[in-house]
Amino acid sequence: MKLILLGPPGVGKGTQAQLLSEEYGIPQISTGDILRAAIRSGTGLGKRANEYMSKGELVPDDIMLGLIREKLFGEEPLDGFILDGFPRTLMQAKALNKMFAEYDQTPDAVLSLEAEEELIMKRLSSRRICRNCGAVYNLITKPPKTEDLCDICNGPLYQRDDDKIETIKNRLEVYKKQTEPLIDFYQSTGLLISVQSSGSPQEVHRIITTKLEG
Ligand code: AP5
Repeated sequence: MKLILLGPPGVGKGTQAQLLSEEYGIPQISTGDILRAAIRSGTGLGKRANEYMSKGELVPDDIMLGLIREKLFGEEPLDGFILDGFPRTLMQAKALNKMFAEYDQTPDAVLSLEAEEELIMKRLSSRRICRNCGAVYNLITKPPKTEDLCDICNGPLYQRDDDKIETIKNRLEVYKKQTEPLIDFYQSTGLLISVQSSGSPQEVHRIITTKLEG
């Protein structure tokens, strides 16, 4: 199965991608996670990406397209995947369509997650992540058992730089200008499935699997 997850920052794309990955046994490809790993390793890609990510801006399309081509259609094209955070511009969406066509593939569905802005702000400003294993917590909805420590590996929890209020506001603006138009783009292809993402992670997951399998 080949799925694309669309939606504003903090709507729950990463959370749902992980649940879908477990449910269907297909990898989650998170461009945000890939870029953050490159920043941690201090690679050229990481240094360039950080200039944009720290401000809540999008990383340029040419960088993202090279990265995604390598991930999806590298030596061995992937049989199935969940794209979390790509595409994010019309240019990326059109280029992805071309890549699919080259390999005679089509995505099965584009899931568009939706939630009120107030809820998104709350989710993002209370998100914490384990520095060791990357597990995602939320101080309100999924707090760790011990303050500031990961339940799984006991690693320290941190707040993403772009989860500070001012940067969140910019990310939401960038989303509206550059990514929201993809909803119409995919609607016109008949692939779009809209999902209300304000329930619990398990509730949202159930809505998604029912719509996918229904
Ligand atoms: P990226 O990492 O993709 O960030 P994002 O799209 O802004 O999404 P988030 O990871 O912030 O949120 P999410 O929707 O995954 O929510 P989550 O599940 O974590 O991108 C970061 C940056 O990288 C971009 O700004 C850009 O610079 C760059 N980039 C990446 N891809 C790019 C591309 N294609 N082109 C150009 N630049 C690119 O949930 C959030 C919180 O809410 C968590 O604490 C979670 O526990 C909680 N939560 C989630 N769901 C629920 C629920 N149902 N109920 C209660 N709590 C919930």
